[in-house]
Order: sequence, then structure tokens, then C-alpha cells
Amino acid sequence: MNQSKDIDESYRQREVFADIIQFRRSNRAFDQNIEVPDDVIHQALEHAMLSPNSSNMQLWEFQWIASKDMLDAFIPLCLDQQAAKTAKHLVVFVTRQDLWKQRAEWNVQQIESAIQGEANTFQKAGLNYYRKLMPIMYMRDPFGLMGIFRKALSFFMGLKGPFFRAGGAAQQRITVHKSCALAAQTFMLSIASAGFHTCPMEGFDEKRVKKILGLPRRAEINMIIAVGKGTEKGIWGPRFRVPYDEVMRKR
Ligand SMILES: Cc1cc2nc3c(=O)[nH]c(=O)nc-3n(C[C@H](O)[C@H](O)[C@H](O)COP(=O)(O)O)c2cc1C
Repeated sequence: MNQSKDIDESYRQREVFADIIQFRRSNRAFDQNIEVPDDVIHQALEHAMLSPNSSNMQLWEFQWIASKDMLDAFIPLCLDQQAAKTAKHLVVFVTRQDLWKQRAEWNVQQIESAIQGEANTFQKAGLNYYRKLMPIMYMRDPFGLMGIFRKALSFFMGLKGPFFRAGGAAQQRITVHKSCALAAQTFMLSIASAGFHTCPMEGFDEKRVKKILGLPRRAEINMIIAVGKGTEKGIWGPRFRVPYDEVMRKR
């Protein structure tokens, strides 16, 4: 009896999720007469924070652009895109690789505060991970020596068997952008679940966006997401994708 109830519930959840996936389209013209309540954005940002992210380092920041003045200022920075012109809110997804020390220390504190008496195996491993491995992964120096060290270490350790192929600055940037993009996707799905629409944008002037937000040099913009109530005009055409069999390889 209970089992069939569970099956019904999981079927219902799959249907709801499939509807949200279908509902989310990139919409480029938002209805000017419909506001998106702040709590919808707020909840979507909280959902975004729960996204999977590398080593739980959370090297991201979400800049919520809500005031009329700031929204207007962002229109030219988003290259006059219609989605930015009509957006009721914009959220700038920012990578904050520069915060790695603080976030590693924050993780250490979380583990330490959970220790009662003596640390268990997982807690010891966790402390080691954030105190020793994270500095190796994220540390940078002006000459790129840490990158060379990481690559050399991966190469020699890799001769013995499978080993994580750590790299230089480019790989560090990829790592933080992966996690940030996952947060952006969670945000968009959450907005869709509330019946509103989004448009992710990479068409913007990164240098000027960083300047207006007062971001440090090593922060980077992952994408800017426009939010509003979409219109039919905002959908540029039917949704098409390359065939499933072309991108899926089952082995
Ligand atoms: C990283 C990224 C950057 C994008 N940049 C823009 C953009 O600058 N302007 C725009 O109109 N759409 C942009 N898009 C939206 C894509 O064009 C859109 O997702 C794609 O055509 C598929 O359509 P769909 O989102 O409706 O399924 C971007 C999407 C992603 C993921």
C-alpha cells in the first residue's frame, strides 16, 4: 500500500519536474505590466546556493540588480539586449576564486563545530582536505610555479595509475565556472517553477560590469540572468536540439 503511494508520488514528482524543464525557455521580452515578487528571486537564490559545487567551496556570489537605476545602467552593459531592456530583475552570477582561503577556513570551522570529543575519520579527513589539499589546488603565484608543480605532480602520480589531473590557472577558472553555472541553472529552474521566465546572457561587457559592481580583479562574471514574466514575442522560435542519438552514447 505504502509502496504504491511512494511510486505515485515519485511519478508525480517526475511529471512536475518535466513540466518545469519544458516551461523554461530563454525569453527575451518580458511583460512590462507584471512584476516578479522579491520573494520569488529570494527563494530562487536560496535554491541556487544548494547547487552542487566543487569541494563545497562555494566560490560564487550572486549580485541581485533590482533598483530601476541599476537596471537602467545595466542595459548598455548587456549590449542593449531586449532581455535586459525589459527585465524586472537581473542577477549577475559571479565567480569568486579570490575567496578560496576564507571559504576553506569556513569549511574547517563547520567541521570543527560538529566535532564532539575526538574527531571521527570523516572529520579528520575533512580537516586535512580543507587545510592541506585546498591550498594546493587554489594557491597561485605570480610566476605560475604552483601550476607547474600541480601538473608535474599529476604527471608523475598518473604514471602509477588513475590520478586527478590538476592544472594551472585555466583549470582553476574552469572549476569555479562549472559550479557557478550549475547555480545559475538551479536559479532558472526555480524561477520557472514559480511561473516566471529567464534569459541567461553572456553578451555583456565584463570589464564594465565588474567596475559597476566594484568587484575585485580575480572575480569573473559567469553569466547574467534576466528575469520577468515572459511574452510570446520573447520566444524567438520553436525549441530545437540535435538528435538524442547524436549526443548520447550508452556504453
Ligand atoms: C552561457 C549562456 C549564454 C547565453 N547568452 C545569451 C545571450 O547573451 N543572449 C541571449 O539572448 N541568449 C543567450 N543564451 C540563451 C541561449 O541562446 C538559449 O539557451 C538556447 O538558444 C536554447 O534555448 P532555450 O534556452 O529556450 O532552451 C545563453 C545561454 C547560455 C547557457
